[in-house]
Amino acid sequence: MLEATPGPTDRALPLPELYARVERHVPPVEWSILADDIGAILKLKRERNAVILAHNYQTPDIFHTVGDITGDSLALAREAARTDAAVIVLAGVHFMAETAKLLNPEKTVLIPSLEAGCSLAASITAADVRLLRQRYPGVPIVSYVNTSAAVKAESDVCCTSGNARKIVEALGAPRVIMLPDEYLARNVAKETGVEIIAWKGHCEVHERFTPDDIRELRATHPGITVLAHPECPPEVVALCDFVGSTAAMADYVGRERPGRVVLLTECSMSDNVALHHPDLDFVRPCNLCPHMKRITLGNIRRALETMTHEVTVAPDIAAKARRTVERMLAIG
Ligand code: 13P
Ligand code: SF4
Repeated sequence: MLEATPGPTDRALPLPELYARVERHVPPVEWSILADDIGAILKLKRERNAVILAHNYQTPDIFHTVGDITGDSLALAREAARTDAAVIVLAGVHFMAETAKLLNPEKTVLIPSLEAGCSLAASITAADVRLLRQRYPGVPIVSYVNTSAAVKAESDVCCTSGNARKIVEALGAPRVIMLPDEYLARNVAKETGVEIIAWKGHCEVHERFTPDDIRELRATHPGITVLAHPECPPEVVALCDFVGSTAAMADYVGRERPGRVVLLTECSMSDNVALHHPDLDFVRPCNLCPHMKRITLGNIRRALETMTHEVTVAPDIAAKARRTVERMLAIG
């Protein structure tokens, strides 16, 4: 399962042992180039007392070698709240680094590339949320973790794809505003029966999957098990065998061991899960997240060498945004 979260020292294995983890994905010639950055990152982590949080969409060379804590955005938020390292490097996208900073105001949080954004986070502003609150007085506002701290600060509680249903149900309200992912909101509305007012944000990776993709997969790969992320359109989710967060998909594969499987999500996810399950057949139509792919071993190394780019959140926004994240973590 991908949520296993060994501590920093567990990952500081000798390079040949780290290579054994990824050799089915990384050819020796490529490893000979990557090994220099990996060795330097391991050393810098010790010197800086740093921990690397790596999302499931990071490439295997990052995920399986230098990532100390790996998982979905919920696991990364939880672990960010627990770490006692002085420095957190977020191998993921900017909203994840902001969340880590909200939960660790006294620590240094670094993101290796400032270009690692997210189409969902970019789809809504704090002013939009204020207008929605005026328009629907008294209706609770749930903001997806894929939002800026400023949007979280205007919301009542946060959620991730791993706990969206639980959070909405915990509110006990007949009507909820859920931002900014229209498809996640519609998928949760279907699961919970709660009336959900949605925003028109979409994930540029998951919105591209179509029902025809699934029909074609089933026709060309008889018996295939289709897993999807809840950021996919509801028409896609309706045709899948299982829908869940990135960690839930990884857990499903480990638990059910489908002989042939496809994960309708970002490409590196299948690569990372497949390295844990060499005996299963992963069919790999997938979509790349250009933002996640901004993070490389090279810029992780530079981040630790130069202590950039430091993520900061203005104190007034941080105080309010932290409450929405902590409310989420208290619910589950
Ligand atoms: P998870 O919370 O499932 O890891 O998803 C984050 C994300 O950005 C999916 O596109
Ligand atoms: Fe954002 Fe989609 Fe990339 Fe996830 S996959 S970080 S939701 S753009």
